[in-house]
Formats: sequence, structure tokens, C-alpha cells
Amino acid sequence: MSLLTIFSNSCRVFMKEGGSGVARSLLCRAMVRFNEYRYGIHTEGIVTARELGLEDSEYHRYSPTDYLQLSKVLADLTIRAGCDSFLDFGAGRGRVMIVAASHPFKRVLGVEISPDLAATTRQNISRAIPRLCCKDLEIFCADAAQFKVPPDATVIFFFNPFHGTILTRVLDNLRASLRERPRPLTVICNLPPLEFADQSQFEHQIQACSWLKLLKERSFGPESRWLIFCSKDPTLRDRPG
Ligand SMILES: C[S@@+](CC[C@H](N)C(=O)[O-])C[C@H]1O[C@@H](n2cnc3c(N)ncnc32)[C@H](O)[C@@H]1O
Repeated sequence: MSLLTIFSNSCRVFMKEGGSGVARSLLCRAMVRFNEYRYGIHTEGIVTARELGLEDSEYHRYSPTDYLQLSKVLADLTIRAGCDSFLDFGAGRGRVMIVAASHPFKRVLGVEISPDLAATTRQNISRAIPRLCCKDLEIFCADAAQFKVPPDATVIFFFNPFHGTILTRVLDNLRASLRERPRPLTVICNLPPLEFADQSQFEHQIQACSWLKLLKERSFGPESRWLIFCSKDPTLRDRPG
């Protein structure tokens, strides 16, 4: 990003959020530079659903999760070292997978529908792996709706990847996986800014999911909210629906 772009972005943020907003956005840029250098990866940029060849309005674009927010949310999580496995639905270029793998997860998995983004994730993983705590990372190039949830996945991550029938099927698959292999499940949702009205359908759907209980809501400024859920009943046996 050029100095001119940084300056014009800072002016826009200043008009909207004042000085503290500018400080937050500059810190966010510094974190991007630091982490991309540290891991030797490239995960920046926005790729529209059309550019990804995803014409269906239920599929959402690629834009990466903020490093600082992600680090704070993961630092708050109780991870059972070598026992919990992390799964990012809509893994994009793998930023979240790589930051997750700097924590002591048993495995870190991602599902990404775009072959190009999945290929970039593979390259990013191979560059970052020497610096990661968890060395078992795998990216699957598939439609999340068709993906069988591995029985050891215990921490699920979404950054607004899709909504509608795809999200319904993914949530059904998760519930089926819990029935098959009862276990505690944490679901972390990085929500899109509220201005994306169609994308906030993701939030409505996840909030309406009857077998998830909201544990915590976090906000990192006017444009970013996170929800952390757990499964209401890890046994989930013999229940209809
Ligand atoms: C907002 S990005 C999030 C990327 C990454 N998880 C992060 O937080 O940095 C959403 C991603 O979901 C992917 N996606 C959209 N529909 C999908 C589907 N049906 N199955 C798998 N991935 C999908 C998009 O290609 C995009 O990379």
C-alpha cells in the first residue's frame, strides 16, 4: 500500500471515527506488515465473489480477518493443547489458519471453495510452517456445504463466508458431527461491518441457531464485532432436529 493510499485512508477514517480511529487503523496496518514479514506470507487484499467466479449471492468475497483482533480473541480462548483442533470455514489465503497454528492446537484445518485462494494458502503454509507451534495444517479446496466435519474439530471459525442454504447445511453438518462424536464445541464468528446488509444475514442465521449458546460478544470499534458461541449440550444425543 502506497503512502498516498495510507494518507487518504487515514483522512477517511478521521472523518468517520476521529483520532482514535486513525491510531487504530495505523496499528492495524503495522500488524499486517509485521505478521506478513514474520511468517513470510501474503494474505492481503480483497477479492470479490465475481472475481472468484462465485456468481451465487450466498457466497461472499475474500477479505482477511484483522490480525490484532484475531490475536486478542485467540488469546482469550482456553485451548486444550494437543487436543483441540481448529477449522476455518472459508479459509481464503490462510491468514486465520496460520495465526491459529501459532497456538498449541492438535490440527489446524481450512476449507476454501476457490482453487486459487486454496493454492495461495498452501504456499503460505509451507512458508510459515517453520515458525508455527502446530505443524499439522491442511487446506481442503471444497464447497463448505459438502465438507464432512472431522470428528476432532472443536474450534470452528467463520468470517462471514456465506449465508442462506450453504450456512444452513454447514450448521446441520456440524450438529450431525456432534451427534456422532459428542464433544465441546466453540464457534468463533468475526462479523462483517453492519453496512453490508446482505452479509449480515450471516449473523441473523447464526444467532438463530438453536443448538448454539452465545458466550461472549466482543467489539473492536464501530466496524467490528465478534461473537463466540459454544454448543448448548455437548452430548446432543437423541434430540430431534
Ligand atoms: C471473508 S473471507 C474470510 C477469509 C479467512 N477466513 C479470514 O478470515 O481471513 C470468506 C471466504 O469464504 C470463501 N467461501 C465463500 N463461499 C464458500 C463456500 N461455499 N465454501 C468454502 N469457502 C467459501 C470465500 O472464497 C472467501 O475466501
